[in-house]
Amino acid sequence: MEDKILIKIEDLVKIYKEDGEDSEETRALAGVNLEIKEGEFVSIVGPSGSGKSTLLQILGCLDRPSRGKYFLEGRELNHYSDDELAKVRNEKFGFVFQAFNLLGRVSILENVKLPLIYAGISEPERTEIAKKTIAAVGLTDRENYEAAKLSGGQKQRVAIARALVNAPKVIFADEPTGNLDSKSGAVILKFFEELHSKGNTIILVTHETYFAESAQRMIHMKDGLVKKDEKVAGRHTHGFVK
Ligand SMILES: Nc1ncnc2c1ncn2[C@@H]1O[C@H](COP(=O)(O)OP(=O)(O)O)[C@@H](O)[C@H]1O
Ligand SMILES: [Mg+2]
Repeated sequence: MEDKILIKIEDLVKIYKEDGEDSEETRALAGVNLEIKEGEFVSIVGPSGSGKSTLLQILGCLDRPSRGKYFLEGRELNHYSDDELAKVRNEKFGFVFQAFNLLGRVSILENVKLPLIYAGISEPERTEIAKKTIAAVGLTDRENYEAAKLSGGQKQRVAIARALVNAPKVIFADEPTGNLDSKSGAVILKFFEELHSKGNTIILVTHETYFAESAQRMIHMKDGLVKKDEKVAGRHTHGFVK
């Protein structure tokens, strides 16, 4: 299974253009080529502005490239409509962001149930699945709390539960520990390691070296290009703790 190619991109370019006549263009991605295999745990690192988030958003079908090709499981996505891309996202992808992106005034349970509504799953199955997922991140005792009342680490655990509730194949995370203290960050890292050991593909943008080095592979970006693509130790896969 590890050898099956999940994602393949060819000469991916993303140019952002502001509205207006003499507006400036930003070339966020300058021709990226990449292959990611099923079950890989990949971290993406690089200086601010190097195109990491742009790449993640295109890989996650949240945005489209200006040029270049994207193949997911061998199917070219470039010609997919917005609805078809949304379907791919709902069925296969889970997302975790630095800013958590939860609905603050709504209970944790409702937050986690949301993707199941989009997926067309009926009550009471939604509640049952959401409760199980919340239990998996250790927040059962908080499931009726409003999301806004949780600590940062707890919020990110809710965000992870929400990302996982559809049992996605691929988890995309953009600086998921960026707003957390190191202890909460370590808890989040453990969840990602566990997901990877269960066969999920993880694609993670991070500033934290300890997190990036927990992956199997580190992709270094600079100026919209992949500058280095290296194998790293991946702590859990080798059974040692740094
Ligand atoms: N929506 C946008 N509109 C215009 N420029 C953008 C947009 N998003 C990102 N950029 C620019 O594209 C470049 C890459 O940004 P980004 O992918 O966010 O980098 P990173 O995540 O590595 O910090 C930066 O110069 C940034 O200012
Ligand atoms: Mg970014």
